[in-house]
Amino acid sequence: MGNGAGEANVQPGEGLTSGPKRGSEMRDIGLIEDGVVGIRGEDIVFVGTAHEFERADISAHETLDAGGRLLTPGLIDPHTHLVHGGSRQQELAMKLAGKSYLEILEQGGGILSTVKSTRAASEEELEAQALQSLHTMLEQGTTTVEAKSGYGLERETELKQLKVANKLNDLQPVEVVSTFLGPHALPPEYRSHPDEFLDLMIEMLDEIKEEKLAEFCDIFCESGVFSVEQSRRFLAACKNKGFDIKIHADEIEPLGGTELAAELGATSVEHLLAASKEGLQDIAKSGTIAVILPGTSWNLRSPKHADARYLIDEANGAVALATDYNPGSCPTESLQLIMAFGANLLGMTPEEILTAVTRNAAYAIGRGHRIGTIEVGKQADLCLFNTDDVAYIPYHFGINHVDCVFKKGRKVVSGGKPITD
Ligand code: NIG
Ligand code: FE
Repeated sequence: MGNGAGEANVQPGEGLTSGPKRGSEMRDIGLIEDGVVGIRGEDIVFVGTAHEFERADISAHETLDAGGRLLTPGLIDPHTHLVHGGSRQQELAMKLAGKSYLEILEQGGGILSTVKSTRAASEEELEAQALQSLHTMLEQGTTTVEAKSGYGLERETELKQLKVANKLNDLQPVEVVSTFLGPHALPPEYRSHPDEFLDLMIEMLDEIKEEKLAEFCDIFCESGVFSVEQSRRFLAACKNKGFDIKIHADEIEPLGGTELAAELGATSVEHLLAASKEGLQDIAKSGTIAVILPGTSWNLRSPKHADARYLIDEANGAVALATDYNPGSCPTESLQLIMAFGANLLGMTPEEILTAVTRNAAYAIGRGHRIGTIEVGKQADLCLFNTDDVAYIPYHFGINHVDCVFKKGRKVVSGGKPITD
């Protein structure tokens, strides 16, 4: 055995290919008291109790005694806008004065302000800014993150963002899964002919595919941004080119993007704050994962949040949680904070929350076969917390509970700090 982990309360998954957890299954985290996890190379080779480990007669040449604390799969953040230039703290005053997110965008701020900073930034500058965020994510337990483009709204800058997202995989331990979100907003120069802008984004798909710059495509389907019809046209073209699809749907107004995600068989549908009950039912019946972003609804000062309880209790849906990390609607890298919001804003239980940031989050980015649970044969992405109780993480909010993180079998965080070598 290459490495070994000592005794811990282990939260494994069950069955390598059994899919996301839906409805009440989300509360079943399969906790093993007094558990042992064995790692060889990049993979998990043993999961069981200390007693089973002794009987298996395996010798570990390196062990870590977790002292009965909680060992979970590495956390997975399935929706971020990681690569961008600049920041937007100047919008805080506008927000406090009562301006809405869509009003700020309408006036050329919001996403369009970050478009300006991202167009102006060099690849090196974007890379340096994203590396800092990844460092923060890793020390908070995130081992895999999805990263969307969408602050270029033109060929050159979109490609620049996608290239940086991919290169980040060679520079640090957090795995970055890339999504092309070309239609994230309508650039002012296309105001009178939005369909030509969509054509331009569709023309980029071949190049993105050939250069392997993105696995997923996404669009912001929202009132005043892209309509359901425009979203259908773009996403159908993406599917045609062999991309898996995601959709920013019903974040602010109930437009029907949720129903569209189910219709098109999207891998995930994201936001859902304003989604209709029928839309949520459609999603739950489909294989699409509902990615909820409570940090965004909190930060936009929304009195409402996505209806996670309806999705879980009534619709039997599969829910994941994500930060939506971006410089406007949700400037935080901390999935642990989002876990606290999952409890307090969405009414999710600690066990549902853990499932939502591990197993279900893995399926939201098409990685369920490889990460998201602690199972023999899966990648050894693990997170050791300074507590023995999963409820302690959302309960004691605003601080970092991570002690150690393993990525692909290698210890990359120790004592809550990334190991830099
Ligand atoms: O998911 N809604 C669209 N996109 C992001 C926000 C991006 C931004 O404000 O810069 C979101 O909330
Ligand atoms: Fe987003």
